[in-house]
Amino acid sequence: MSKHKVLVAPSILSADPLRYGEETKSVEIAGADWHHIDVMDGHFVPNLTFGLPLIKALKKTAKLPLDVHIMVSNPDDVALSYVEAGADILVFHAEAAKHGHRLAQAIREKGARPGVALNPATPLEFAFSMAPHVDVIMLMSVNPGFGGQSFIEDTVDRVAALSKWLAANKLQDKVLIEVDGGINEQTGTKIVKAGATVLVAGTYVYGSKDRAQPISALKSLK
Ligand code: DX5
Ligand code: ZN
Repeated sequence: MSKHKVLVAPSILSADPLRYGEETKSVEIAGADWHHIDVMDGHFVPNLTFGLPLIKALKKTAKLPLDVHIMVSNPDDVALSYVEAGADILVFHAEAAKHGHRLAQAIREKGARPGVALNPATPLEFAFSMAPHVDVIMLMSVNPGFGGQSFIEDTVDRVAALSKWLAANKLQDKVLIEVDGGINEQTGTKIVKAGATVLVAGTYVYGSKDRAQPISALKSLK
C-alpha cells in the first residue's frame, strides 16, 4: 500500500484539440493535480503532437503545474526550451538522453523539477544512477506514441521493484513514481498498491464526459 497521496495528471493528448483551454479548465475544476502534456517529435515515437507554443499558451491560464513529457530524440538539445516555455516538471526519456545527469541538473537550475522516463522494455537499472538527481521516475505502461493503448501488466512488478529499490536507498520520500499509459480504476488500483504516486490518465479522464468521477476514483486509490 502506498503511503503517499496519489496525484492525478490528466493527459491533454486525449482532450479535444480545438478546445484545450476549456478542457484543461474542466479537469482543474474536477480536482486534477497536474496537467500532463505529451510532446512527440515523430522520430523518437511515431506520432507528432504539439510543442512550445501550446505550452506557453497553457502556462498563461493553467492553475496547476505543467508536467511536460518530452518523447523526443534530442532531449539534451530541447529540454530547457520547454522549461522556459513553462514546464514545471520536465520528464525526458533515459533512452534518448546523452548526458542524463547533466540534463537533470540543468533543468533544476532553470527552475523546473526534472524527471526521467523509461519505456516498458528498458531495464529499471537505467533509472537507478539517475534517481538521486531527479524528482520523478516515470515508468511507461504502454509503448509511447498514442493514447488509448492497453496497459502492459508487467508494469505492476516494475513499479513494485522500483518502489522497493527507492526505499532501500532512502529515496522514497524524494522521488515520485509516475506511471503513464492505459490507466483506469482497475489498472490504477494495482499500480498504487505497488507504490505508484502519480497517475497519468488520458482516455480515462478526457474520454469521460464527467471529469470528476474518474479523477476522484483515481485519487481515492490506496
Ligand atoms: C503515451 C503518452 C500518454 C498517453 C496516455 O505515449 O505518453 O501520456 O496520453 O494516454 P492513455 O491514458 O489514453 O493511455
Ligand atoms: Zn505521457
